[in-house]
Amino acid sequence: MRICMIGTGYVGLVTGTCLAEVGNHVWCVDVDQRKIEKLQNGEIPIYEPGLEDIVARNVKQGRLQFTTDLKEALDDSLFVFIAVGTPPGEDGSADLSYVFNAAKQIGASMENYKIVVAKSTIPVGTTEKIAGHISQEIASRDRKDLDFDVAFCPEFLKEGSAIDDFMKPDRIVVGTQNSRTAELLKELFSPFCMRENRIISMSIPSAELTKYASNSMLATRISFMNQLARFCEKVGADIDQVRHGMGSDSRIGSAFLYPGVGYGGSCFPKDVKALIHSGIENQSPMTLLESVEEINKTQREWFYQKVLNHYDGDLTGKTLAVWGLSFKPNTDDVREAPALDIIPWLLEKGATVRAYDPVGQENAKAELPKTDSIIYCEDNYQALENADGLLLLTEWLPFRRPEFDRMKELMAGDVIFDGRNQYNPEQMNAMGFVYHGIGRCVL
Ligand code: UDX
Repeated sequence: MRICMIGTGYVGLVTGTCLAEVGNHVWCVDVDQRKIEKLQNGEIPIYEPGLEDIVARNVKQGRLQFTTDLKEALDDSLFVFIAVGTPPGEDGSADLSYVFNAAKQIGASMENYKIVVAKSTIPVGTTEKIAGHISQEIASRDRKDLDFDVAFCPEFLKEGSAIDDFMKPDRIVVGTQNSRTAELLKELFSPFCMRENRIISMSIPSAELTKYASNSMLATRISFMNQLARFCEKVGADIDQVRHGMGSDSRIGSAFLYPGVGYGGSCFPKDVKALIHSGIENQSPMTLLESVEEINKTQREWFYQKVLNHYDGDLTGKTLAVWGLSFKPNTDDVREAPALDIIPWLLEKGATVRAYDPVGQENAKAELPKTDSIIYCEDNYQALENADGLLLLTEWLPFRRPEFDRMKELMAGDVIFDGRNQYNPEQMNAMGFVYHGIGRCVL
């Protein structure tokens, strides 16, 4: 099948590439000329394990092409995906201007029947508005002969494992207005669930809400665990034992129950905010999510307060190592990363920070204050040189079982603030570290 993918950001690029990998012909379109040139030269603008190889293979075999010319890409495509950004506006609502612009361009350029599939995360009712914009453009061209259908298919890709998530999905949600579009989309997605049908067909509003509801549910689990971890510290319980005990109930399950320094990234914070905003707009307030957001915000402050309390409120003259700047492992994405909040707070109190991240360093550097008080290091051990304490903010694999003896030798102090509960408190204490985890009280 022939596909036009509008937007070569994270979602568009991964979706377009994976659709090409199973034999479709995909045009990826973007207004950013430099980005398209880079992609044409085989340069991938994002860090995503495995993506570069699949892009190269499909470009070589002629199934994947990049262009800034929407008309060229539209002409022979049946499916047109909209995968442009929906950044949060000032009031927390999703900014839909890029989505509507793409819709208008489709209406202005199409010459034959299209199935326009929205992939960007959009509030309930937006796909219908997309249809309105396309119709308006067609009407202004006086082309009553042109016809189209709209659909909404949310993405559930996790950064760092996006290819696997796309190729082996838990489910594929297809929101359509009629059974013919549903059947065609099922055919398009069937190569990704050959053995077992994982395609769930539903109405467009239900599909739109499924995306927000899924991310908000996961964020709720995390905030619940974070609040519970704070409570554990007050009552002498250990959150890791509680997590294990709870997660073994098959009704609860063990995923997304890990407390830490709060969720970040481009999706959870934005989607929780957007659903809160939609709730208010529709006179059906999402009060639970308001708390989820509040807990996430205060979790970083609570962790920082732990550091501050340890040093009696004054970090002047202290050197603190920070391991992990990206919002989670296996990505260079620092959007809403805990490090971007916590490091400036440490600096404000007079600390010098020695920071290291395996791939997120450059992105973090661009966002953090420009100051000599942040020293970017070449590896995690260099970050520890003469450090009074270590803050572990992202659980990258090399941080999980480091050489503790070497760490002790390099550090001037002996304190570990483990923001991701990676280490065993008893072992840490036995090795002579002063250990602060998240909700850890092991007797
Ligand atoms: C998320 C959704 O998982 C994905 O389905 C959606 O399409 C986009 O948003 P992503 O933002 O890539 O994906 O990251 P994810 O792995 O879900 O983690 C989100 C955040 O939650 C990270 O900051 C992570 O550190 C945090 N997290 C996750 C926890 O604090 N505890 C957990 O138990 C799990």
